[in-house]
Amino acid sequence: MERFSQFSEQIQTLVKETSPKITLPLAAYGLYKIIGTYLLPPAVGLIKHSLRPRRNLLERYHSNWALVTGASDGIGEAICHELAKSGFNIVLLSRTQEKLEKVEKDLKNQYHIETRIICFDLLELFNQEGVEKLYSSFDNLDVEISIVVNSAGKAHVNPIHKHTIDMCFFMVNVNVNAMLFITRYFSAKFVDNYQRQREQFAQPNKPFRRSAIINISSISALGFGKQVSLYSATKAFDRVFSNTVAVDYESEGIDVLTVTPMNVRTGMNSGIYLGTITAQQHAKAVIDQLGWERETIGHWRHYLQGALSDFPPTNFLISRINMKRRQQFILKRDQLEKQQKEKEALEKTQ
Ligand SMILES: NC(=O)c1ccc[n+]([C@@H]2O[C@H](COP(=O)([O-])OP(=O)(O)OC[C@H]3O[C@@H](n4cnc5c(N)ncnc54)[C@H](OP(=O)(O)O)[C@@H]3O)[C@@H](O)[C@H]2O)c1
Repeated sequence: MERFSQFSEQIQTLVKETSPKITLPLAAYGLYKIIGTYLLPPAVGLIKHSLRPRRNLLERYHSNWALVTGASDGIGEAICHELAKSGFNIVLLSRTQEKLEKVEKDLKNQYHIETRIICFDLLELFNQEGVEKLYSSFDNLDVEISIVVNSAGKAHVNPIHKHTIDMCFFMVNVNVNAMLFITRYFSAKFVDNYQRQREQFAQPNKPFRRSAIINISSISALGFGKQVSLYSATKAFDRVFSNTVAVDYESEGIDVLTVTPMNVRTGMNSGIYLGTITAQQHAKAVIDQLGWERETIGHWRHYLQGALSDFPPTNFLISRINMKRRQQFILKRDQLEKQQKEKEALEKTQ
């Protein structure tokens, strides 16, 4: 007991002698860590995602034509409107002619721009023939494109053993192969264009006009979502591919923007999750970031949600709420599927 009180006294003296010397540096380091890690980066990020003005895109890029895949619906359609608002003519690509014609009509009526339509099923991109077919439809365009948006995509929500083989091919061909082969085609064109400008107009004070590729990945690329293993993996491919393509072409005159949205209400997403925004809100935010950033989540509300997801207890609350809503969605969907099967079986027996 005596030894313990001696030891305790020694400790107290040590703390008294040293504490004034270490308290101040420790407090300063703590403050620096808190500001540098938890306050400043999110504050700067929030400002970038909400207050930064859009670049003059017509001035920055070498032509006034953009190609958008998945242009007939959701995020792709909304991006067509944003680009048209900024003065771009649009080449619309998706599978369904009637849907494309409807979007085309809206764009022409609202912004008085020119359009072209490529009706192509990206599922065909499983072999050389399919890729060449797509490339020849690009070769046949009579316009010069300077912005490409890869938005076409699809999510099947199911554990992997419940994915049909068709579903697997769909997600690999449309989410992965389309982005890969379209980026491949246009990066070659864009590099050529930039080099031609360098050779022809070598004026030191005149900036060369660039091109852009916007690749829509997803926050699912970070993994951990329920029943979206293959979808998340295809989106992880999109994200890594796009970010590394950005490194390769930064100095070759191409702005590559990787987009990792959270929930956006579209045909693909019923909008039941926390922090869901509209496709229009998302598209505006994406085009505002073009030419500034290499990767963006898009809208400031998603940025804020992402930042809050890093801290307890909000991280816990957000993931609990979204997980619960996903479970409710899966339950409801499974019930509907079961009812449908029962109905079909009954009809067969009658
Ligand atoms: N909505 C979200 O919450 C969310 C979140 C993160 C990431 N994303 C990503 O955002 C992108 C757009 O999704 P969205 O929500 O806008 O989906 P959406 O509303 O379902 O639109 C999908 C678009 O892709 C086209 N498309 C689908 N399959 C195609 C095919 N085989 N060939 C050609 N075009 C095809 C569709 O056109 P047709 O049907 O006319 O062919 C449609 O225009 C996707 O890459 C998705 O992964 C969405």
